[in-house]
Amino acid sequence: MAARKIRRVGVVGLGAMGAGIAQLAIEAGFETVGREVSDDLGSQARDRIAHFLQRKVDKQQMAAGARESALSSLTLTTDLTDLAGCDLVIEAIVEDLVPKLELFRELERIVRPDAILATNTSALSVTEIAAATTTPERVVGMHFFNPAPLMPLVEIVRAELSSEEAVDTAFAVGEKLGKRPIRCHDTPGFVVNRVLIPLLNDCLRVLDEARVSPEDLDTAMTAGAGWPMGPCTLVDLVGIDVHVHASEALYEKLREPRMAPPPRIVAMRNAGLLGRKSGRGFYVYD
Ligand code: CAA
Repeated sequence: MAARKIRRVGVVGLGAMGAGIAQLAIEAGFETVGREVSDDLGSQARDRIAHFLQRKVDKQQMAAGARESALSSLTLTTDLTDLAGCDLVIEAIVEDLVPKLELFRELERIVRPDAILATNTSALSVTEIAAATTTPERVVGMHFFNPAPLMPLVEIVRAELSSEEAVDTAFAVGEKLGKRPIRCHDTPGFVVNRVLIPLLNDCLRVLDEARVSPEDLDTAMTAGAGWPMGPCTLVDLVGIDVHVHASEALYEKLREPRMAPPPRIVAMRNAGLLGRKSGRGFYVYD
């Protein structure tokens, strides 16, 4: 293993995924710098993390002192240059190529030349993101699953030019975060989404084909196939917009009809029914 020592971790974008990743980082004892575009979004993320850590304390899974010390190792900023001292930066911003390319170009200018840059992209090409930099060997994918603090897997994605050191370091960090990392190459959807996206799309097509309700489809897949949550609940959790975007990105690359998002969820996305985060998707949330 050629893993390097990582002390300080940066997380760019503190939405559901980024906040979850930052939570894992502070729980694992990394000094963590979280960057959001506004103070408001930053403090929303801190509140979310503080809430989930408090639940752990309430359930005696964490000592109150450990929660305080974890929270005190999280620094929030809106200024990317505050990531200058990070040994590893994990990007978890909006799932669009252009802003990601721009961010990696900027990060390259800000962080030390030996710092590792990771993207949490779920359906874009890590190689294309790495190509925005002049040092693509230090760019890898670290793909976490939603909800990041609970799902054990992290896919460590080797892009065309990733160095052994970058891959091994990301793998070792994944382990330190308490995850079960796997190594894979930069193919569309990596491992899980290559399988899960068309499968979820099949499930959603069955809604209309079998004229079944979301509740009954969810019952079918939990009670009949042993899924931990039904497909409609899962897509609501992931975000209808995120799922549509990932489906479109994979369809564009693989041209398999099953990858394309079913019209029903494209219409939901267009109507602003985004799942849990908007309060309404297949289900209604408080
Ligand atoms: N962040 C941090 N902590 C959280 C959390 C979150 N988002 N959500 C819940 N928790 C904590 C809570 O404190 C909760 O306890 P309380 O309710 O007492 O506060 C605790 O975790 C346990 O939560 P649950 O009781 O809801 O846990 P569960 O045993 O029901 O399991 C689950 C929940 C792990 C999500 C399980 O339902 C599951 O495995 N679902 C499938 C999820 C899945 O497939 N995810 C992959 C999505 S695809 C993807 O992410 C890829 C992509 O690129 C889009």
